[in-house]
Amino acid sequence: MFKKIAGTKDILPLEATQWQSLEDAARKIFELYNYRQIRLPAIEEAALFDRSLGDSTEIVQKQMFLIKHGADVFALRPEGTAGVVRAYIENQLDKTEGFIKFYYTGPMFRLERPQKGRLRQFSHIGCEAIGSADPAIDAELISLADCLLTEFGISGYKIKINTLGCAKDKKALADFLRKSLSKELGKLCADCKIRYKKNVLRVLDCKEEASRRLVRAIKLDQGHLCADCRDNFLEVRRYLDNLKVGYEFDPLLVRGLDYYTRTVFEISHPGLGAQDAVGAGGRYDNLLKELGGPDQPACGFAFGVERLLLVASQKSEVTNKDLVFLIALGDKAKQESVKLLDALRKNNISADTDYENKSLKGAMRRANDLKAKFVLIIGDDELNKNVVTLKDMQSGSQEEVKMDGLLGRLINNDT
Ligand code: HAM
Repeated sequence: MFKKIAGTKDILPLEATQWQSLEDAARKIFELYNYRQIRLPAIEEAALFDRSLGDSTEIVQKQMFLIKHGADVFALRPEGTAGVVRAYIENQLDKTEGFIKFYYTGPMFRLERPQKGRLRQFSHIGCEAIGSADPAIDAELISLADCLLTEFGISGYKIKINTLGCAKDKKALADFLRKSLSKELGKLCADCKIRYKKNVLRVLDCKEEASRRLVRAIKLDQGHLCADCRDNFLEVRRYLDNLKVGYEFDPLLVRGLDYYTRTVFEISHPGLGAQDAVGAGGRYDNLLKELGGPDQPACGFAFGVERLLLVASQKSEVTNKDLVFLIALGDKAKQESVKLLDALRKNNISADTDYENKSLKGAMRRANDLKAKFVLIIGDDELNKNVVTLKDMQSGSQEEVKMDGLLGRLINNDT
């Protein structure tokens, strides 16, 4: 028997309804904020991610699903931002659209060690605003993320924000960290010894106690920031305060992707355990230029859908609240019921029937399991009288309804 690959998930119909309501809610909110949908390939040139996320990042080093084909190397996308930027540049949207706000949903792939909330195929709901450096956009994105979580019925999360500053400031911070840690190198955890050389900023958000102890001793006072970046961050915070978005300033937040500059943020939820980030994002003002595009600043974030669902309290159950279930008793009735089924559907009434030839009792049980709103029973008796028996599954009441009045009765009956 074949089994699914570790770190992938089958989303069966019961769970799929939860996905649908989450995606519907997200679409509604994105549209309120005037974000427009973009749908992109799940496979891109691997080099796009090397260049965007950074050669030394964990994702590029260890987690890419690569496909070699002749001289080409493709990758299953590990995240959505690089593809959106590639599409913006390739389609010259700077010329036709200028500033544009996108949203997307879809599967992402990372070859990680699977555990709770950490999958090899997972889904993002994300958005990117390309073409504006206005700090009001950073605040809009964070407040949009906050609003989405509320709409999803999720509470108890924490929004942490920080600024990395511009590219020069990031370098100043890296130099400062290397200097501060140089005498204590031996005390860093094994991974951080490598990070020290390749990507020293990541030492800041290491979860290992050995590294954390050293990091705590470093005085991080935002001294690496230039005046512009300091002012910019103050502006972002002022907007967030005005919008009454609750957040925490976390000077240790750096994020695992190299493209970030200035504002970064992460949203964590205690219900998730070790992998506690439900979503994250930030500004990437240099990425478009670095990928050969126009010099346009940009900002965005993404939620992990599986993690959202792990903490969503209002798990929606299957509710076929408008389903009409037809039960035909006998061959002649079956012929009639197939026609009636068709008429119902053509009149926008969700309808189904018993395809397993169950007894009346069995078919009623099936209707009950499907949480049908009404059951229609047609047997010889009903055929002779040109009626159907209509049972309201909620109240349990039953009546005979004339065949030619049935559609009107079902369309108008919204009870
Ligand atoms: P990220 O932090 O790598 O950011 O991923 C965003 C979210 O995806 C995480 O907070 C987490 O909820 C979820 N996630 C990540 N990896 C996994 C996994 N292996 N299994 C399950 N869920 C996972 C980005 O990808 C950026 N592109 C976000 C962004 C958009 N920044 C700017 N624009």
